[in-house]
Amino acid sequence: MPYNSNINELILAKMENNNFGGDWTKIKIEILVDYAKAYLTIMKDRKFFKLMYFDGFAGSGFIIKNKKEKIDVTIGAAKRIIEISEPRSFDTYYFVEKDPIFFGELKKNTKDAYPKKANSIFPVCDDCNKKLIDLGNFLRDPKNKNVRTLAYIDPCGMQVEWRSIESLRGLPIDMWILVPTGLGVNRLLKKNGHISDAWLEKLEIFLGLTKEEIGKRFYKKSPTLFEDITHFEKERDAIEKSAKLYQSRLKEVFEYVSKPYELKNSSNSTMYHLYLTSNNKAAEKIGSDIVKKYNN
Ligand SMILES: C[S@@+](CC[C@H](N)C(=O)[O-])C[C@H]1O[C@@H](n2cnc3c(N)ncnc32)[C@H](O)[C@@H]1O
Repeated sequence: MPYNSNINELILAKMENNNFGGDWTKIKIEILVDYAKAYLTIMKDRKFFKLMYFDGFAGSGFIIKNKKEKIDVTIGAAKRIIEISEPRSFDTYYFVEKDPIFFGELKKNTKDAYPKKANSIFPVCDDCNKKLIDLGNFLRDPKNKNVRTLAYIDPCGMQVEWRSIESLRGLPIDMWILVPTGLGVNRLLKKNGHISDAWLEKLEIFLGLTKEEIGKRFYKKSPTLFEDITHFEKERDAIEKSAKLYQSRLKEVFEYVSKPYELKNSSNSTMYHLYLTSNNKAAEKIGSDIVKKYNN
C-alpha cells in the first residue's frame, strides 16, 4: 500500500481530526461484514432480487492511524464488502464520500482496483443526505421493485439529518447506522441548558424534534428562590437517553431495530451506538445476535 506519499500524510491528518480510528473502527467493520455474509447467504438462491450495497460515508478505502509513529492501516468497509464473492456478490455498489480528497482515493481503491467488478461500482462525491433521499426515490420506483439494499451509514459526527432517514420508510432496506450519542448529542446538551442557537438547530435537524421536545427529554426544571427564574438541569444518563430516543425514532420508520453495539473509548466512555434497522424480523434477529457476540 502506498503510504509514503503527501496525499497519505494529508489523509492521515484529516482522519485524526475526524475521530477516525480506535479499536471500535475495526469492530464495526467486522459487524458489517458478518452481517453482509449472512445477508448474501440468505439471498444466494433468490436470483430474482438485485442486491445493492449503499455506503453513505465511504471514506478513502483505508483507515490509517498514526499511534506514536506506529502506522496502523485498516482496510475500510468499502473494500471489505467488494471483496465478498462467496456465496454471492452484491450486484451494485454505491459509495458516497463528500470530501474530494478522500473521494479521489476511494475511487482508486474501489472502482479502479477491482476491474472485474468496475462496471457495478459507483463512487460519488456528494452529501450522504442527498443520496439517501435519492436512494428512497429509486427504491420507491415500481421499475426497481426487485432491488434489495444493504446500507451502511458510518458518519464521524452528526451529519445524518433525520428527514433523510425518514425518507426510507417502508422500503426494503437493511441499514447499519452509527449514532453519535456520546460524541455528538451528549456534547451539545450543555449541563445548564444554555445551548447556542447553532447547536440547538443541529440537534433539531439530527433528531427531527423541536427544541421544546428536546428540552423536555433531556432537562428538568428545578425551582429557584425567585419564582420568575427557572433553573434547567440536564438529566442524568443523557448518553443512554439519547440512544433510547434515537432507537425509538428509528422504530417509527423501520419495523425492527436491533440491540445496539456500544462503541467506547479507552476511558470506557460511550461514543457511539450502532444499530441495524430493517422491515424484516429475521434480519433484526441476525443483527442482534452479531451485536451480542461483539458486545461480549
Ligand atoms: C468514519 S469515516 C468512514 C469510514 C469508512 N466507513 C470506512 O470503513 O473506511 C466518515 C467519512 O464520511 C465523510 N463525510 C463527512 N460528512 C459527509 C457527508 N455529509 N456525506 C458524505 N460523506 C461525508 C468523511 O469525509 C469521512 O471520510
